[in-house]
Amino acid sequence: MKNQKFKAFVIRDKNKSGIESMYTDELMPGNVLVKIMFSSFNYKDGLAILNKAPIIKRYPMIPGSDFAGVVLESSHRRFKRGDKVICNGWGIGEKHFGGFSQFARVNGDWLIHLPKKISFEQSMVIGAAGYTAALCVKEIISKLKPSHGNIIVTGSSGGVGSIAVNLLYKLGFSVIALTNKDSQYLKNIGASNILKRENFKYSNKPLSKEKWSGAIDTVGGDILSTILTETKYNGIVVSTGLAKSHVLNTTVYPFILRNITLSGIDCVYASYRKRLNAWNFLVKYLDFKIIKEIKSSGNLKDLEKISKKILQGKIKGRTIIKID
Ligand SMILES: NC(=O)c1ccc[n+]([C@@H]2O[C@H](COP(=O)([O-])OP(=O)(O)OC[C@H]3O[C@@H](n4cnc5c(N)ncnc54)[C@H](OP(=O)(O)O)[C@@H]3O)[C@@H](O)[C@H]2O)c1
Repeated sequence: MKNQKFKAFVIRDKNKSGIESMYTDELMPGNVLVKIMFSSFNYKDGLAILNKAPIIKRYPMIPGSDFAGVVLESSHRRFKRGDKVICNGWGIGEKHFGGFSQFARVNGDWLIHLPKKISFEQSMVIGAAGYTAALCVKEIISKLKPSHGNIIVTGSSGGVGSIAVNLLYKLGFSVIALTNKDSQYLKNIGASNILKRENFKYSNKPLSKEKWSGAIDTVGGDILSTILTETKYNGIVVSTGLAKSHVLNTTVYPFILRNITLSGIDCVYASYRKRLNAWNFLVKYLDFKIIKEIKSSGNLKDLEKISKKILQGKIKGRTIIKID
């Protein structure tokens, strides 16, 4: 394809970012060129855009940790012109130009085909956060059944949390949603009970009264350390985020006396097979009727505003970025 002018949100350095015109020849190396239709806004994108954590590994950078679009050129064995694809993670928006752009050139190994039953838009309402939620829920069901008892989801109104709540509900689990936001939203997407953050009792004891058979934690810090002390014998706690803190002060007691598993989930470098399985799981179990409930929309002009909101914990559900 001939060198084509396009628009992207570019972070030039720690203090300078904005929408710029670029040429496709300036894109980074890769064997698939994609015309992006939608991207989505993830917590990490807010950290990158506002320079609140060392997310960006090289400048200039186009942020955006996932995208959905159409293949324009490909020399990769799995993809041909016209294929609909999605990309989540693999360092896009950190060390390789990401999704807040009209075009992306990436390694085809990072792409999967858009699942047949979903649209570009739906795929980005799910996005990296939803696909992470699927990985977390799959981890929970590797060890637990609904009959084992309640699962607590922290940061439950956020991107990972909302999708996790709905998947667990659809699988028959009773979900306790820890949140700072309105209860009705969480009830609508499947929470059985709402635990307001102001009523959450922090514990620094090695063990506390057993309350949860499992947990999906997106916030870290003293919320995660408290949940570890409250998890039932043979339980599993899945840690995937740090919206509150990256610090974890704990003891070995929950592990050696209650046989608890603390399981980590990373979506960025999950294998191709694991991704396909997670997306198929989403297609099978996510209630697509909740998409309207959890979706907000923005475009490249809104990125700074959305970054501020997400880092203040004010975003509910998922925000898609329409690339036009
Ligand atoms: N490991 C991975 O591969 C991976 C992938 C995706 C995301 N993540 C991480 O997972 C976390 C959540 O991502 P997300 O996309 O769901 O973000 P999000 O949409 O911003 O949701 C985070 C939620 O956490 C809660 N929260 C925010 N600040 C808090 C605080 N100070 N104390 C307690 N709770 C707080 C809020 O929910 P409530 O008001 O409902 O409590 C907020 O909506 C982030 O740290 C992100 O980087 C990791």
